[in-house]
Amino acid sequence: MAQLAPSILAADFRNLSQQIRLVEMAGADLIHCDIMDGHFVPNLTFGPLIINAARRATELPLDVHLMITNPDNYLEDFVNAGANSIIVHQEAVIHLNRTVQRIKELGVKAGVAINPSTPVDVLKDIAEYIDQVLIMSVNPGFGGQNFIPNSIRKIKETVQLRKSLNVNFLIEVDGGIDNRTAKPILEAGCDIFISGSAIFKADNITAAATELLNIIKRR
Ligand code: DX5
Ligand code: ZN
Repeated sequence: MAQLAPSILAADFRNLSQQIRLVEMAGADLIHCDIMDGHFVPNLTFGPLIINAARRATELPLDVHLMITNPDNYLEDFVNAGANSIIVHQEAVIHLNRTVQRIKELGVKAGVAINPSTPVDVLKDIAEYIDQVLIMSVNPGFGGQNFIPNSIRKIKETVQLRKSLNVNFLIEVDGGIDNRTAKPILEAGCDIFISGSAIFKADNITAAATELLNIIKRR
């Protein structure tokens, strides 16, 4: 069954625990946390301090998406802060196998993200070692962007790759997911739907998350 991971990037940080509570009430499966450093992506967000605040606000798994250069330097900090899964970008890491092993040694799930212009093929030799693949369906850096249509093809290619290698990572899709785009993404084979603006910018956050859940739990 597919899962929903609301991204707190679009939340109102005046009251983070209340915002998390609102998506928990709808039945969200994970909380997605976007870490940006102003180098790998042209935006700055937050670090382990906020991860730790989220940790104390919920028992849901925290899915931590590192859009930063040199993620190796911070893996331990994010695990200590309460991350349950850590996703690094293929484009940001030179020794990806080493980084993935390190994440797993720290006792959390390891994921690899690829940008819209990065082919799915680059995942072939890391696929058997990871728990999650994250397909970026917008260029990373900002919430509220439009879903890039050829991501659908990339999701299908990732499903094929998983099948041909006989491995079992989960496929996450991140960026531009709303009630309109969710259905084709589901049909393409997405396992974890990450959604920020469509949930947290809605007038009724719980209702918006419920609506998305109703679409994605249909498989
Ligand atoms: C973008 C982030 C996404 C973002 C998604 O760089 O990785 O997780 O928060 O936000 P929406 O759903 O607004 O596209
Ligand atoms: Zn993300």
